[in-house]
Amino acid sequence: MTDTFRPYDDATQPVRAVVGYRKSLLRTPGQVPWPRIGAPADATGPSFDPAALRPGEHDLAVVAPGRPRALGQLIVVTGRVLDEDGRPVRNALLECWQANAAGKYIHHNDPSPVPIDPNFVGVGRVMTDERGQYRIRTIKPGGYAVPFDGEGQLSGWWRPPHIHFSIFGPAFASRLVTQMYFPGEPLNERDLLLNSIRDQAARLRLIGAFAPELSTQDGALGFRHDFVLRGRFETPFEDDHP
Ligand SMILES: [Fe+2]
Repeated sequence: MTDTFRPYDDATQPVRAVVGYRKSLLRTPGQVPWPRIGAPADATGPSFDPAALRPGEHDLAVVAPGRPRALGQLIVVTGRVLDEDGRPVRNALLECWQANAAGKYIHHNDPSPVPIDPNFVGVGRVMTDERGQYRIRTIKPGGYAVPFDGEGQLSGWWRPPHIHFSIFGPAFASRLVTQMYFPGEPLNERDLLLNSIRDQAARLRLIGAFAPELSTQDGALGFRHDFVLRGRFETPFEDDHP
């Protein structure tokens, strides 16, 4: 089992205690963790029936049929979910969540006075097809100021625009929780989470590519972003959510 899923390479992952991010300091264990022995259940996984998804869950830009489109720049994000050997992962379940175009989440942990958009909830689901491909339609999220919540927190920290993804692949041990960033964003250079990854190539794997050929007639800009589940070229794991 341990051969199947090697330990993460810390250089390719965000550090656990991010200087300037108070919550990460509070929840990082002070002791070296005990190694966990792999179990057979790690290599098995949940299986999801594509029919269980409701039509339109991949389209975050419209909350229900007949409702106006959400405010903001319409985008499509598409790509593949692969395993570490480059093989497509079919029937992987992707769940995504994001701020609206103004940088606001509908969530009790978001105290900002930024307005919500009544036509945007900010959550979606999609499954990969036989070629491991997924496609979502949404609006580009805004950046947002991370609230100052006490000593140890950097004031003036803004998160760059990003979309959170959780991906269930073929095994529980290959589950990935990560964030996709956008190319050319000045806030990318200053983000505490993105830049806590020491390996530059791993950081770049979190930034989607502008793909004008994917742009659509209805005015959506295209972005391409692949995910690689657990392995040498895996997408960095980023489950922090300030
Ligand atoms: Fe976020």
